[in-house]
Amino acid sequence: MPHPDDPNPHARPDPPAAPREQERDERTRSFLRMASHELRTPLNSIIGFADIIARELYGPINDPRYREHAELVRESGMKMLKLVNQVVEIARLQAGAADLHLHPEAVLSLVEEAVAAFEYEAEGRNVAIRIDAAPDLPPALVDQRALKTAVSNLVQNAVTFAPDGTEIAVTLALRKDWLCIAVRDHGPGVDPAELPRLMRPFEQGEAPLIRRSEGAGLGLPIVRLLCQAMNGGLRLQSEPGAGFLATIRLRPAPGADADPDTRGFAPTA
Ligand SMILES: Nc1ncnc2c1ncn2[C@@H]1O[C@H](COP(=O)(O)OP(=O)(O)O)[C@@H](O)[C@H]1O
Ligand SMILES: [Mg+2]
Repeated sequence: MPHPDDPNPHARPDPPAAPREQERDERTRSFLRMASHELRTPLNSIIGFADIIARELYGPINDPRYREHAELVRESGMKMLKLVNQVVEIARLQAGAADLHLHPEAVLSLVEEAVAAFEYEAEGRNVAIRIDAAPDLPPALVDQRALKTAVSNLVQNAVTFAPDGTEIAVTLALRKDWLCIAVRDHGPGVDPAELPRLMRPFEQGEAPLIRRSEGAGLGLPIVRLLCQAMNGGLRLQSEPGAGFLATIRLRPAPGADADPDTRGFAPTA
């Protein structure tokens, strides 16, 4: 895995692999393809058929407990599917087998798409998500799906932890040679000493019995690995009681007019 600051315009930053390494990479890829297929296929049946029962599509079920149980089966299946997808994503990224395709993209519209998915949930808790983009941002070298996944994970966390009635700020700006996307909330934050641990897979901020988020602690490690695979990086800043600031940095596309000043960037932590 390259250092996040290594400039490299290619999607797979590793040098050309020796034949034996190529063979090993190919075996890793095919194992991951097989594992994800074999895990997802039965889960899709579980989710799909539980949904049919929960919605009583073939006619009413007498005892309502059957329906409630079917709903639980469907929800548990969906949680497991999310976990499987995350574990496969981590494994692919750690094996350098993520197959990202980096192209110059207008980042703002991708960020808007990622944010839109959370607007309903945020509105329900009177949380506003504000997007602030500096004018004339250059395109960045990104994989569309990877960037949307990364931003979604950060916004999901911000929405989870933002107190009702507060605002989440998503800021896009150029900073030195980087195009930065910052997601900031005014939630409880975490002890800064915890931050390096949260970037490692399967780490959680709080003890399992008291924590608010249901995930397995894979969101931030995925964001970091995705950003690194796009030759960028992730920075976390927080203080207890002072909210959480996560900043993705990306490479402007070569030839893009990268303005070196920090116009529009509002550092907050
Ligand atoms: N915006 C935030 N505010 C406070 N704590 C956060 C925030 N984002 C992440 N965390 C802490 O980091 C932990 C791991 O987050 P994450 O990597 O996204 O994993 P998960 O898959 O559990 O959401 C969370 O359980 C929480 O303790
Ligand atoms: Mg998360």
